[in-house]
Amino acid sequence: MSLKDKINPETLPQHIAIIMDGNGRWAKQHGADRIFGHENGVKSVRDTVEAAAEVGVKFLTLYAFSTENWNRPQEEVIALMQLLVHTINAETKTLNKNSIRLQAIGDLKSLPVDCYNELQEAIDNTKNNTRMTLVLALSYSSRWEITNAVKQIAEKIENKTLSVAEINENTINSHLCTANIPDPELMIRTSGENRISNFLLWQLAYTELYFTEKLWPDFRKEDLYLAILNYQTRERRFGKTSEQIV
Ligand code: FPP
Repeated sequence: MSLKDKINPETLPQHIAIIMDGNGRWAKQHGADRIFGHENGVKSVRDTVEAAAEVGVKFLTLYAFSTENWNRPQEEVIALMQLLVHTINAETKTLNKNSIRLQAIGDLKSLPVDCYNELQEAIDNTKNNTRMTLVLALSYSSRWEITNAVKQIAEKIENKTLSVAEINENTINSHLCTANIPDPELMIRTSGENRISNFLLWQLAYTELYFTEKLWPDFRKEDLYLAILNYQTRERRFGKTSEQIV
């Protein structure tokens, strides 16, 4: 029985989020510069998107570029942006062929204009696809997102379209970039780092975390299946007792 066949479709996470980490270390191991690692990371993106869609995952969020990544050496930032534009451009046809809708979260206005335009075009071209939604987190950080949400809510209080008493969890949810996306049930981070790194802090409240030593450019379909199978062995209690869950 293959790993894929062992996955129970009844308890499949509908949203998986991934921190794709280890491109730089992978490149170093191969005696190449960091961008070579990012280029090879694109193969893993392709494999993971395909695997997730095949097993029936409905949302896949990939942390492609954080707010903090702007502080990397200028040449790496430029190369990463070019790689993003090129990949989005090259993959739109495949996304449509497989009915995958593209979305993006983050401070998108801070992206270089060609990157922003390419992204918006791909989002628009894939908007009617229904099999799976691929969410790219770009120039994203959770603290930026939450700060933004607080500002929007405060403005509504100030102009009296919202009262303090009306604020609840849904108010916060609906002001985040992920307003129309369910919380992830599973979050995967590659490269052996056991951190959340400013990724979906609000949304990960009850998410199962899975850490693997694999560096992102080595991550393949089987690695995604292993993470899903591991998730399926866990008991999700949401603060209740085991007995209450049964
Ligand atoms: C983390 O590795 C990876 C990134 C910051 C970039 C991820 C980008 C890609 C995989 C390329 C394109 C993606 C899409 C969605 C088209 P790192 O550089 O932090 O590695 P290190 O920790 O080993 O230095």
